[in-house]
Amino acid sequence: MTANVHSLRQRQQIREVFGAVSPRLKDVEAFLERELEHALPLVGKVAGYVLGSGGKRIRPALVLLISKMLGYTGERDIRYAAVVELIHSATLIHDDIIDGSDLRRGRPTANRKWGNQTTVLVGDWLYTRTMDLSLELGDVQIMRVLTAATLQMIEGEILADQVRRRLDLDETTYMDITRRKTAELFAAACALPALFQPSTLHLTDRLAAFGRNIGLCFQLIDDALDFTSSRSELGKPVMADLREGRITLPMILLLPRLGQDRRRRIEEVVATGEFASISEREILEMVTTSGVLTDVYRRAADYADEAVALTEQFPKGAERDALTRVAALLLGRRS
Ligand code: IPE
Ligand code: IPE
Ligand code: MG
Ligand code: MG
Repeated sequence: MTANVHSLRQRQQIREVFGAVSPRLKDVEAFLERELEHALPLVGKVAGYVLGSGGKRIRPALVLLISKMLGYTGERDIRYAAVVELIHSATLIHDDIIDGSDLRRGRPTANRKWGNQTTVLVGDWLYTRTMDLSLELGDVQIMRVLTAATLQMIEGEILADQVRRRLDLDETTYMDITRRKTAELFAAACALPALFQPSTLHLTDRLAAFGRNIGLCFQLIDDALDFTSSRSELGKPVMADLREGRITLPMILLLPRLGQDRRRRIEEVVATGEFASISEREILEMVTTSGVLTDVYRRAADYADEAVALTEQFPKGAERDALTRVAALLLGRRS
């Protein structure tokens, strides 16, 4: 099957799972557009480019679906779904500068088009604007959750940068970075709806735990796809992590199984960012035949199972059923 057919099918699956909230997702898009219309023109242009480049909108869709599951009928779900996507966009903008990435979602990155100076400031603007959007309604508790998640993400990026090119990165540190840089925003997105009305406050921690588990699953799959997927499906180069000197779980599990010679050749890729001493195809073969990818998928599946088990404590109904399908969807995703 071609990459486009895969991506198309995946988009359909996402639409199906989140079908119950698709009209509200449109309202989120309108909210985002209005935000950018009122921003400084250059900010509107750069942020509009990033926001309009085909992100999957998984995090805002979770905010909406969980709000519906909790019987929320106000307007905060739209605002905070947009806020979560704005934080996600700001992180990606900064991440691409840090990683020196040229391609995201099949298009040149913002840093590639506008340079680091402008893009770093647009990222800052987006982060700060999300705080404004919480303060406008005096939602201090919500703002606390969002700033805590954002701080964790930034700390995750700092820690990841500190261990860049380190072949001795251990699993515990890797999982800590993964939780901070990806899972905490999922946790926040899932927990926020519980804060919209006093009657659901008691569900906050359980929803956060659900989000954290699917977030961990999400990033483990992302790290596996970096090896197995294609440039056209991913919208970014394959094996970008190794090229950028990022050691992820497949490599952490593979390295101890390799002899000195192969280890040295991988070390060279990580040090130089070039596949001169070993090809991408050879590395892909190693991670597949060694069984480490199967291990990574098994672990991701364990987090997905954990998330599904947590849904038993959520209000019954179609939305809860959809949440259990989100876990499966993220596990099987291709981009
Ligand atoms: C990409 O997240 C960044 C990671 C946490 C791996 P997504 O895969 O949700 O990004 P978009 O928004 O759909 O492009
Ligand atoms: C994702 O990290 C960015 C954050 C969640 C902070 P990655 O560097 O792994 O994501 P990609 O591979 O650039 O999408
Ligand atoms: Mg990156
Ligand atoms: Mg990645």
